[in-house]
Amino acid sequence: MVKTEIHIIGLGNLGSAFLEGFTSFDENYLIKVYELNNDVLEIYKNKYPEYKYHTNLDQVKSGVLILCVKPQTINKIFDQIKYTIHEDVLICSPIAGLDIDHISKLINNKIIRIMPNLLIRNNKGFIPYSKNYDDDYLDFIQLTLNNLGDTKEFSEKYFPVITALSGSGPAWFFALSNELVKAGNKLGLSNQESELLVNKIINGLPDLIASGDRFPELIKKVKSPKGTTEAGLNSLQNDSFDTIILDAIEKATQRSIELSKELKSE
Ligand SMILES: NC(=O)c1ccc[n+]([C@@H]2O[C@H](COP(=O)([O-])OP(=O)(O)OC[C@H]3O[C@@H](n4cnc5c(N)ncnc54)[C@H](OP(=O)(O)O)[C@@H]3O)[C@@H](O)[C@H]2O)c1
Repeated sequence: MVKTEIHIIGLGNLGSAFLEGFTSFDENYLIKVYELNNDVLEIYKNKYPEYKYHTNLDQVKSGVLILCVKPQTINKIFDQIKYTIHEDVLICSPIAGLDIDHISKLINNKIIRIMPNLLIRNNKGFIPYSKNYDDDYLDFIQLTLNNLGDTKEFSEKYFPVITALSGSGPAWFFALSNELVKAGNKLGLSNQESELLVNKIINGLPDLIASGDRFPELIKKVKSPKGTTEAGLNSLQNDSFDTIILDAIEKATQRSIELSKELKSE
């Protein structure tokens, strides 16, 4: 059986999450990685010697090219690589703010835009996607993305809010967790004890969510009338928790729209 080539450019946070996600189902793939930083390359070469590693992208004749580089570098990178990529290669872009329309002006290939988060590292991601072709070319959605997590097609116009909610999503929960740890610490626990409590909650949450209850029902299950949880929730409400969260998601959405404009004007 001919193996599908997967080319990953950039081994930062997301590129390494892709690479590690692939390790559990890599038998049908030939994985090639491109990263400028030699120290980073060496780490992964030692960890996964079965893959191919390069500092520069040369010829890409087939398969899928996954762009795991910062938005600010993409125009320059395409200037360097567009003539070395065969037209049969599927371009997969998780780059925040980079529209399919923008990429198709740089290269005339099939393009799938995705917005994963770092949970793809252990095959538990959620991968919203939008594409400029009809079929499931190379079975990339069915056989590849679905192994990295769950997938769902969205209209591309929703990508800025999807980026804010889902792409950046883990950061919102880490920021909340960090504040909880600090609160426990301020109220007498050691930092380590407080961190242990918060970690245990986070690790247990998937079991609670698995009940299928919606979030308001889950909240109701934790609180009792005039109890401790209700006191805390009332305080959150009085301190405009809803507005704080809405503002953060709006700012992140806006930044995604701005990034897109900046990329277009470069
Ligand atoms: N992190 C996330 O959770 C997440 C989620 C969804 C989407 N994304 C998107 O994914 C992209 C990557 O994000 P990230 O957080 O992984 O960024 P990152 O940690 O900065 O990783 C980018 C990596 O690409 C390398 N690189 C830059 N130019 C290169 C080139 N020409 N050839 C090969 N490697 C090159 C960088 O090396 P140097 O450091 O040496 O420049 C760096 O190691 C971004 O566009 C972001 O919008 C990220």
